Amino acid sequence: MLNKGLPVACLVLMAFLSVVVHSVKADMSYSVPEEMKRGYVVGNIGKDLGLNMKELSSRKARINAEGNRKRFCNINLTTGELTLADIMDRESICKEKLSCVVKMELVLENPLELHKITLHVQDTNDNSPVFTKDVVKLEIRESADKGARFRLSEAHDADIGQNAVQSYILENNDHFILAITSTKDGGKNLELVLDKELDREQQQELTLVLTALDGGIPPRSGTVHIHVTVLDANDNAPVFTEEVYRASLPENSALGAVVLKVSATDLDEGINGEVTYEFSRVSSLAKQAFTLDSITGEITVCGPLDYEEDSVYEMRVEGKDGFGLSTDTKVIIDLKDVNDNTPEIYLQSLISHIPENAAPGTEIGIINVQDRDSESNGQVQCVIGSNVPFKLVPSITNYYSLVTTAELDREVTSDYNITITATDEGTPSLSSYKTMHLMVADVNDNPPAFRQQSYSAHITENNKPGSPVCTVSATDPDWRQNGTVNYALHSSDVDGTPVSSLLSINADTGVIHAVRQFDYEKLKSFKVQVIARDNGSPPLSSNVTVSVLVADENDNTPQILYPAPEGNSLMTEMVPKSVQGNSLVSKVIAVDADSGQNAWLSYHIVKATDPGLFTIGVHSGEIRTQRDISENDGMKQNLIVSVKDNGQPPLSATCTVYLLISDNLAEIPELKDLSHDSGSKLTTYLIIALVSVSTFFITFLIITLAVKFCHRRKPRLLFDGAVAIPSAYLPPNYADVDGTGTLRSVRSAYNYDAYLTTGSRTSDFKFVRSYNDGTLPADSTLRKTSSQDPFGPCDETDSTEVKYLRFLQIV
Ligand SMILES: *[C@@H]1O[C@H](CO)[C@@H](O)[C@H](O)[C@H]1NC(C)=O
Ligand SMILES: *[C@@H]1O[C@H](CO)[C@@H](O)[C@H](O)[C@H]1NC(C)=O
Ligand SMILES: *[C@@H]1O[C@H](CO)[C@@H](O)[C@H](O)[C@H]1NC(C)=O
Ligand SMILES: *[C@@H]1O[C@H](CO)[C@@H](O)[C@H](O)[C@H]1NC(C)=O
Repeated sequence: MLNKGLPVACLVLMAFLSVVVHSVKADMSYSVPEEMKRGYVVGNIGKDLGLNMKELSSRKARINAEGNRKRFCNINLTTGELTLADIMDRESICKEKLSCVVKMELVLENPLELHKITLHVQDTNDNSPVFTKDVVKLEIRESADKGARFRLSEAHDADIGQNAVQSYILENNDHFILAITSTKDGGKNLELVLDKELDREQQQELTLVLTALDGGIPPRSGTVHIHVTVLDANDNAPVFTEEVYRASLPENSALGAVVLKVSATDLDEGINGEVTYEFSRVSSLAKQAFTLDSITGEITVCGPLDYEEDSVYEMRVEGKDGFGLSTDTKVIIDLKDVNDNTPEIYLQSLISHIPENAAPGTEIGIINVQDRDSESNGQVQCVIGSNVPFKLVPSITNYYSLVTTAELDREVTSDYNITITATDEGTPSLSSYKTMHLMVADVNDNPPAFRQQSYSAHITENNKPGSPVCTVSATDPDWRQNGTVNYALHSSDVDGTPVSSLLSINADTGVIHAVRQFDYEKLKSFKVQVIARDNGSPPLSSNVTVSVLVADENDNTPQILYPAPEGNSLMTEMVPKSVQGNSLVSKVIAVDADSGQNAWLSYHIVKATDPGLFTIGVHSGEIRTQRDISENDGMKQNLIVSVKDNGQPPLSATCTVYLLISDNLAEIPELKDLSHDSGSKLTTYLIIALVSVSTFFITFLIITLAVKFCHRRKPRLLFDGAVAIPSAYLPPNYADVDGTGTLRSVRSAYNYDAYLTTGSRTSDFKFVRSYNDGTLPADSTLRKTSSQDPFGPCDETDSTEVKYLRFLQIV
């Protein structure tokens, strides 16, 4: 199992790594002479990588110095050129190393890509050879033989190769020549060789000039003066116990710590055998770090030691006896790394605002960690707090991508503090952390939401145009314009009227205003849609229904349908003398266009000829006798009836009901008067009337037949009896009589049963009823049919009929 499982696991791991870890592309190598000025073009990286300039800038190409060293180069994103950001001095960057290489990285994002760049810094001859001392003092016994050799320290040139010291020239003199031999460690042994014996008596002292020349073009030179004192005696040169002294010590060693002790012996006695030590060649860095006790030969730490600055110090120590005979030896001090550098975290190309709709896995930044220590002291692990929807994906060495792990929602969490902790693997380990603040940028992903599912607005009719009706309100949690809500009415029609001519809405506040005065009798309620839209692009919207209910106001006076209000004094009710108490004699019919209490009518007799004779039903309007009629009662009885609605304040109308107590038309005083005044005229009138009746009747028959053919299925209203309410009295919008005699509006065909009276033995009232069958009852002389649909095409006979009816009433 294990044998099979392992390769599979490896494959999976490799597949995972190949997805996550972006490849490190081929190295690029450039060379540049040292000391070139800023902006010097080292090469064209864009061209060398085959990237166009657009890609360079869109992928945020930049140069990072490796290991957090000073960054010497920049990339020009418009040209793709690698340019110098600072002057490079080979000697300070690479000291004495023969090959001076500066390493950099070119970082590209999306996907993260790293290119290693090596920059070879070429030496130029910018340093002259330098001798350790300006003057070398030699003391030589006059007995010295020809061929005797005296060691000199060599000159040093910070430049390398051809630019380093190449040759020495000794000033022409009579006694000495120069001998140069190579040493085992690659240095040069410089010796003054006695060519002709010295004679103290002739010359006690002599001075020579030694010149060192480098191989640069043009060459540079340095000189030293050799001061020779001729003595009477001679001695032995000191000898070091070791040819090379080596020591190794941890960096950050305490000041004063003894590193090693050099020691040389001189066979001579006295002052000739006293050896003193001094550095013959030492780098300035080493000079700051170590001191040499000239008497004991102890090398101690005198300055801070930094492994990261320099890990190996090489120096030469000269041992010299009292007479100036000297030897030198090499000292090599190795530093050992100590975990003294905490890891450093660098955030690169961190997006400060991440859109909330970014898909999980979106790269939002690159993290680079660096630890200047070596080996495991410099191995760094990076972790991120677990309470944020982000993770670190290891990429190229020391690089991590910061990616999202879940969907973000600005309306829930608008910002995150992400803490990254980097820990190295030294013992004890060091760690550091960095917190970054990430804002989530808004996306218009929430439509406005109304606070209520629906709204209803109440407005009383006869309102002032412009008065507010109600306020709708919607909220949108998005940011700024994405969450700014504007209101508008959805353009639609209410019974053919555009909504905009009824209502308007304040786009900002959501306050709905009435555009015009409402009339409850025309429009009782309607619905409009209000749309709330945010200002995003594209905008999101939602809508809500607002029901507008118009409330009734008592703005219509009761309208009396019967008797006709315009005091037609001739419309008179006949009351037979034989009528007993509590008999129905007439009825006042009134309607009120308002509704509810405003249309609840009550009837009162305000004035009567004989107050005790008649009474009126408060709500029915029925006029009844209170007692039996006696012979003493006057023939003419007038009642003034007031009809009042129940509104606040109430409105009322009055009418006069004329009653005639008589069994005989001839008794009617008016008619009597007529016959007294002009009996012959009356006869003439009657003849005309009869002729007219006949004519009308024939006309009526013809019309009836015509109507029958014309509108077989149209409802007809039949008048039966002397008291009927012709349709012409009905206000256009009324129909449908309810129990209290109130007519409700519906502008439609009159298809109702109006039961105006209950049957009474003396009643002149009959039913008024609609007939749908279109048949014509044929059993009455006073019957009259009419096309009662006032909107029908065949209603031109109405006026004739009304006249006819009135005439009949008079008769
Ligand atoms: C990049 O190169 C162009 C052309 O040489 C130059 O005009 C521009 O200043 C350079 N940009 C930078 C940042 O050095
Ligand atoms: C992030 O840190 C800042 C400053 O410390 C603080 O004001 C803010 O509330 C923090 N935000 C979150 C989401 O914790
Ligand atoms: C609004 O949302 C859009 C995307 O829908 C976004 O581009 C824009 O930046 C947002 N505006 C604000 C002010 O956040
Ligand atoms: C109102 O909203 C519903 C769904 O919420 C939508 O189907 C309808 O089209 C909207 N009406 C208008 C007028 O925008």
